[in-house]
Amino acid sequence: MRVKSAAGNRSTGHSADALAVRVERCGPVVLPALLLCDFGHLAAEVARLEEAGAAAIHLDIMDGVFVPQLTYGQVVVEAVRRAAKVPIEVHLMVAEPDRWLADYARLGADILTVHVEALPDAAKTLDSIRHLGPRAHLAISPKTPVERAIALLDRCDGVLVMSVEPGFGGQAFDPAALAKLKSLAEARSNGHPHVRLCVDGGISTTTIGPVAAAGAEYIVAGSAVIKSPDYALAIRDLEQIAGDAARAADHSPRSLSLDG
Ligand code: DX5
Ligand code: ZN
Repeated sequence: MRVKSAAGNRSTGHSADALAVRVERCGPVVLPALLLCDFGHLAAEVARLEEAGAAAIHLDIMDGVFVPQLTYGQVVVEAVRRAAKVPIEVHLMVAEPDRWLADYARLGADILTVHVEALPDAAKTLDSIRHLGPRAHLAISPKTPVERAIALLDRCDGVLVMSVEPGFGGQAFDPAALAKLKSLAEARSNGHPHVRLCVDGGISTTTIGPVAAAGAEYIVAGSAVIKSPDYALAIRDLEQIAGDAARAADHSPRSLSLDG
């Protein structure tokens, strides 16, 4: 059964597929993380990000248990879903994420991202997410070996490599993420072409080139966008650097390699 989104008639997951097509054609995209935005003007912030060219929006759900900080939950996700036309990724940094999957699917998460460290049976959770409708992404924290995600590539639609300890925006990028992305890119080329490679934490104009060169396609950026006075300029600069780096590393957009 596919769950209808609270936002109306659209099925969850479909706009995530459009995003995947865009990435395959045009190269990596930046997903602004709302964590540091002005929550007093939430709908206006979402509109500002969309007008600035955000391909999708990343929402950080923290419960004060799996991570030290408490952020927001279903009420805010519902409000963002109502305000946003672009896909939304719900990044669950919570204990016992299985309890909440159906709720976030119903609220219209296009991508539902769960941490392997929080899951007693990650394969089962990923299957549940797919069954509910959203695309199922698996996140790995910095200390988690990449092999745990590689073993699950046939069960997920994406892997989110954390390049900071989950819990706070504005931390420094951990370069250990680069080797993980490269391993995932190699593993993906062995029969898992549908898996999207994602990275989250410490992204800036300095770090986005290396992550794109290592294979990252969905690149979450909090401070680098939200602390900039001009969201459009920030997103454009970041995506330009990422696109150049991906092409130089020969993660060519599929359309170019087909046409060429
Ligand atoms: C960290 C969150 C990130 C964070 C990114 O736990 O998952 O999404 O908001 O923020 P920056 O880009 O500032 O590291
Ligand atoms: Zn996040």
